[in-house]
Amino acid sequence: MESSVNSDLNALKKQVETEVKAVLTVEEGDALWLKYFGKSGVVKKVASHMATLPAEERKDFGVKFNSLKAELEEKIQNRIKQLSQKEETPLEKFYKTLPGKKPQIGHLHIITQAIREIVEIFKPLGFTQVRYPEIDWDYYAFEALNMPETHPARDEWETFFVDAPDHAQLGKMVITPHTSNGQIREMLEGQLPIRMLNISRCGRRQSDLTHNPSFFQFEGLVVDKGINITHLKGVLDYFAKNFFGPDRTTRLRPYDFRFTEPSFEVDINCGLCKGEGCKFCKGGWLELGGAGMVHPNVFKACNVDPEKYTGFAFGWGVERTYMMKSGTKLDDIRLLLGNDLRFLEQF
Ligand code: FA5
Repeated sequence: MESSVNSDLNALKKQVETEVKAVLTVEEGDALWLKYFGKSGVVKKVASHMATLPAEERKDFGVKFNSLKAELEEKIQNRIKQLSQKEETPLEKFYKTLPGKKPQIGHLHIITQAIREIVEIFKPLGFTQVRYPEIDWDYYAFEALNMPETHPARDEWETFFVDAPDHAQLGKMVITPHTSNGQIREMLEGQLPIRMLNISRCGRRQSDLTHNPSFFQFEGLVVDKGINITHLKGVLDYFAKNFFGPDRTTRLRPYDFRFTEPSFEVDINCGLCKGEGCKFCKGGWLELGGAGMVHPNVFKACNVDPEKYTGFAFGWGVERTYMMKSGTKLDDIRLLLGNDLRFLEQF
């Protein structure tokens, strides 16, 4: 008989434990508690069973029953407590019929978008994108570009020097202040003719509305037999029309770069005033970057015969070029690297 009482109580315990595990909400927990501990609950019915037992078994049953009753009540209450802590607000409940939350997917940074667009525009003309070191020796960044160590033109590049031991032949190590080191490295590869597009990060000690200490340049280099300024002008106009719009054109202004001769500043007609002159531009034109015909001394430094080959090069800032697109109301270049999502998400 005693074993039958024990097995009844064990069965009750197991049943409650299984049902507690299946409870997923506070409401379900409350219902379970009522089912067992309510006025006409299971526990009450089991208790009434005690009266039917012979007197000698009643005491033992009573002890076991009371201990089990306390244990089961605690189990149900603990589950309810656990669930009510989870279910902080009704809004956080799981509603099967609500549409799911879409995970936030980012997009390419505007500078990456601009770089990809530039590469695509130059591709049909046969330009191949390359990338050369962004930290390089003095020799490639200046010396081989016809700018000897003492030449004052080097000051204009406001160079960051890297704290590294000097190289006996190649000099100091610098953060490349322009992508023109790519001209030297490309020509030293010794594969002619060349149609190169070098896009890399550059660094200069500058910071204001139009200068970032870290910025990107894209550098074109064409070396072949019979290349002249008309080819350069044709490529610049082709780029201007494809990147900025069919009504845009470029003009060349004489300038002085040590690594090109003749050298030019390249301007584009202003997209806002269409060349009339406005507060955004200087008399109808905006400055894009530098260009020119490769200097014979640069050819010589790269073992290219200037009697046989000629070439042109141009180097522009990616960020500045992007800022000049009409419709891009970007008046502070520093925003581009500021990592402020409120700004970046607009593009
Ligand atoms: C040069 O860097 C030359 N290497 C360009 C060149 C290449 C000339 C090939 C001839 C042949 P410059 O210092 O003007 O030139 O810079 C070119 C462009 O880089 C600028 O017009 C501007 O668009 C961009 N740039 C320069 N400094 C910064 C800066 N601190 N922040 C953002 N863009 C810059």
